[in-house]
Amino acid sequence: MPTHTSTAAKTPAKAHPAPARKPGIKAGNKNLQPADYLKKILTARVYDVAVESALEKAKTLSARLKNTVLLKREDQQPVFSFKLRGAYNKMAHLSAAQLKKGVICASAGNHAQGVAMSAQKLGTRAVVVMPTTTPQLKIDAVKSWGAEVVLHGDSYSDAYSHSLLLEKKRGLTFVHPFDDPDVIAGQGTIAMEILMQLQSLGSSRLDAVFVAIGGGGLISGVANYIKAVRPEIRVIGVQMNDSDAMMQSVSASKRVTLNDVGLFSDGTAVKLVGEETYRISRELVDEFISVDTDAVCAAIKDVFVDTRSIVEPAGALAVAAIKKYVATNKTQGETYAAILCGANMNFDRLRFVAERAEVGEEREALFAVTIPEERGSFRRFCEVIGDLPGGPRSVTEFNYRISDDARAHVFVGLTTSAKGESTKIAANFTRHGFKALDLTHDELAKEHIRHMVGGHSALSKNERLLRFVFPERPGALMKFLSSMQPGWNISLFHYRNQGADYGRILVGLQVPKADNKAFKSFLDTMGYPHVEETDNPVYRLFLQS
Ligand SMILES: Cc1ncc(COP(=O)(O)O)c(C=O)c1O
Repeated sequence: MPTHTSTAAKTPAKAHPAPARKPGIKAGNKNLQPADYLKKILTARVYDVAVESALEKAKTLSARLKNTVLLKREDQQPVFSFKLRGAYNKMAHLSAAQLKKGVICASAGNHAQGVAMSAQKLGTRAVVVMPTTTPQLKIDAVKSWGAEVVLHGDSYSDAYSHSLLLEKKRGLTFVHPFDDPDVIAGQGTIAMEILMQLQSLGSSRLDAVFVAIGGGGLISGVANYIKAVRPEIRVIGVQMNDSDAMMQSVSASKRVTLNDVGLFSDGTAVKLVGEETYRISRELVDEFISVDTDAVCAAIKDVFVDTRSIVEPAGALAVAAIKKYVATNKTQGETYAAILCGANMNFDRLRFVAERAEVGEEREALFAVTIPEERGSFRRFCEVIGDLPGGPRSVTEFNYRISDDARAHVFVGLTTSAKGESTKIAANFTRHGFKALDLTHDELAKEHIRHMVGGHSALSKNERLLRFVFPERPGALMKFLSSMQPGWNISLFHYRNQGADYGRILVGLQVPKADNKAFKSFLDTMGYPHVEETDNPVYRLFLQS
């Protein structure tokens, strides 16, 4: 992890050409310094459109981390992200002639909404070029501010190139998402507010500000203000581990273009950072931290617990980094601010986030457990689960498919309450004679295998397939499992707890034809409603031998 404390002015490296024209970065051939930016930030125009967002203490997270965590609620902005600050400041500084012609930007995300809203406020025309792949929700949001949307190309780069053509053709002014001193100054007003708002929280102590980085506009504004006013406060930049163009650029001492970037945190997915934002970050940012998807999902949940609001992945990067920073440096009693920079979350992402949050926090442990393929061993295994230390634990996943005469491999998920518990649980299974492989940190298991336990099995003769449904409540699965003790072999089992209203279980049982009558009366006495799926064509295609 590179740590940069230098404040000496250096000329930005130019190994890679900038994607945009340089937006007048130097004043009189001199790089702008924190004092210059301070002036620009103090005179920035943002409050015609932006609100002074709250700075709040995250009570639960602070207690857990033994440090005070303050949340700067940029998710409260009218476009649900900070981006309108920079866009509006840039546009408010345009000449009357420029405003008469209108502005243009390329963006599939928050910048587009910031530009569109600002244009409406300033009574100017905005053209927003978006890739054809942009979700309709975002297109509609931009249109609702009165902007003209032009869909072009499959990627941001295609949309960007097209926007440059339109800029020339229509005489519009380009509004860059990050590499522009006016945009940077607009974003810097966040730091100005934080330092003012600290007073009203009862203490001016602030040890570090954590800031998500995409192209670097936000951190450039924040770092300039902080280093001009209270240079002792550390400015810590945060990136996704699969989208870390700024970290790579700073370590390489030149701007690095990434071939590919992870899109989970779409707000910060940038392949090449700005020239000015690179220069500022290299000079003023004290430290960089990278975080992974699971940590970001867990941080989204942390923010939800403290605020009951859901931020988008980029909006949770700072909180994820604070947790990593505290764990690494073992700090106590310090005060940190996290900028919750956006809340434009795609609703269809929520299921993934909820699932990974549990794994990211290690609230769920996953195992492959081997049990002997013999009568009674399934029940014994269930008893061991019921008696695990630290229990009772909920079973989150229970998947099994017959594949071996002698042994059964069961994929099991269990709730845990603290990191590191999975190792102890695995040891406990082994002590009881069930060999267990801890899959809690296994990407293949988490992403794929958990959904793939099954398939055709030559050993599943006379199999009958049944679907059971019962109201989900603590202990319901274990109760079901104990009533599932017929004389017939269980050849398939599938259960996944997704926080649903009803537990849904699929069971395969090997019932010779001669036992059909006895099997019917077993099902009748079990007391669980069921649907027989043995004749379902999908069963035949994917499971039946
Ligand atoms: C929610 C959110 N967070 C962070 C960023 C990154 O900001 P910057 O590109 O200024 O580093 C963006 C950029 O669009 C964003 O939308």
